[in-house]
Amino acid sequence: MVKEKFQHEGTGHDWWHIYRVWQMAKRIAREEKDADLETVELAALLHDIADWKEHGGDLTAGPREARNWLEQHRAPENQIAHICDIIARSSYKGAGVKDEMPSIEGKIVQDADRLDAIGAIGIARTFAYSGSKGRLIYDPEKPPTPHQNFDEYKKNTSSTINHFHEKLLLLKDRMHTATAKKIAQERHEYMQDYLKRFQLEWDALK
Ligand code: NI
Repeated sequence: MVKEKFQHEGTGHDWWHIYRVWQMAKRIAREEKDADLETVELAALLHDIADWKEHGGDLTAGPREARNWLEQHRAPENQIAHICDIIARSSYKGAGVKDEMPSIEGKIVQDADRLDAIGAIGIARTFAYSGSKGRLIYDPEKPPTPHQNFDEYKKNTSSTINHFHEKLLLLKDRMHTATAKKIAQERHEYMQDYLKRFQLEWDALK
């Protein structure tokens, strides 16, 4: 169902994003143990089922659609409630907004989703998403702004390079699991190198 729905998505939230998050969530779950694998896999597969960015900022659209599907497929109510809670909490809402993710299953899915937002894949997805919104690659006259609440973050219109400073470079310190922290560190350094190189080329120095 998810594959069919997201096959032709062009904003970086396509089926292959979901596939990578699913694979990464399984990898983290294997290393972190103690997590219920079925819940992790279902939450990973359903985490972007109705993203707020595509639903006029509505954070309840995702959990609602996930619940419908899970109910149709007769998942137990406690598992449905848990998965919907993970989906509701999983979005990034701005630099100044703290994450609250109580369960290990939720921590794993959020980590896996955020790992896909950084590193080489993260760079590709960021430019794809910005392109779909008609944003500039970079505007040296507009400095990055750390968004203090979800409303400010939602309305943000700054350049793609600013998005690295407003979100992507902050993600490594917001990972929950030891496994994800290790992977994030390497992906973070790769992005820093990329930004350095970008600036050098921008300034005609390389
Ligand atoms: Ni996602």
